[in-house]
Amino acid sequence: MGHLLDEIGQRRAFRAFNEKKVPEEVIGRIMTAATYAPSCFNNQSWRFLMATEREALDKVRDALSIGNYWMKKAPVLVVVATKPEFGCQMSDHREYAIFDCGLAVENLMLQAFSEGLFAHAVAGYDPLKVKQAFGIPDEFIIITLVAIGYPGDEGHLNEKHKELEHSPRNRKPESEVIAYNRWHFTIDQ
Ligand SMILES: Cc1cc2nc3c(=O)[nH]c(=O)nc-3n(C[C@H](O)[C@H](O)[C@H](O)COP(=O)(O)O)c2cc1C
Repeated sequence: MGHLLDEIGQRRAFRAFNEKKVPEEVIGRIMTAATYAPSCFNNQSWRFLMATEREALDKVRDALSIGNYWMKKAPVLVVVATKPEFGCQMSDHREYAIFDCGLAVENLMLQAFSEGLFAHAVAGYDPLKVKQAFGIPDEFIIITLVAIGYPGDEGHLNEKHKELEHSPRNRKPESEVIAYNRWHFTIDQ
């Protein structure tokens, strides 16, 4: 019996990053885990731009929302991009490129935590700035940025974020989001 649930439980959206460099082989394993994710028709619709050098890191940092100031300490920032056409597009308008990316990013985060690192995906950034800085064609969707790095001290975090580093996991009761055999969800929430 494996203990994958324990490993999954280790992942939290921590923000206290250390500036210490992450060895290339560790980054390599984390990204291999990302690419091992399943995807619709095995399309592998994810594209990862790895910012590890000063100039590239600064380009991503410039695009962060104010509330994501804590990401500036992370030594690795991943730009996750896709195009709807890269993924399965079903006749009833279901689109799978972004879904594929989500599966890959969760793999990435779990591998990072299993290596003793933090990995935190965010939506708070200006995607146009990211595209302009790197010359990424307009057709791409910059679906998330992921900060990767070793745990650091909390000195640079604001009070709310310091508190969140130690907060218990906050989830809806499972009965609100999981139904067995009968649909019981309302259209309101
Ligand atoms: C798609 C996505 C976008 C997120 N955007 C941000 C963000 O911009 N800033 C931030 O501090 N955290 C962000 N988070 C982290 C979530 O707030 C966090 O995962 C959630 O509160 C649950 O906490 P946990 O991951 O520790 O269980 C994001 C997470 C996801 C999956």
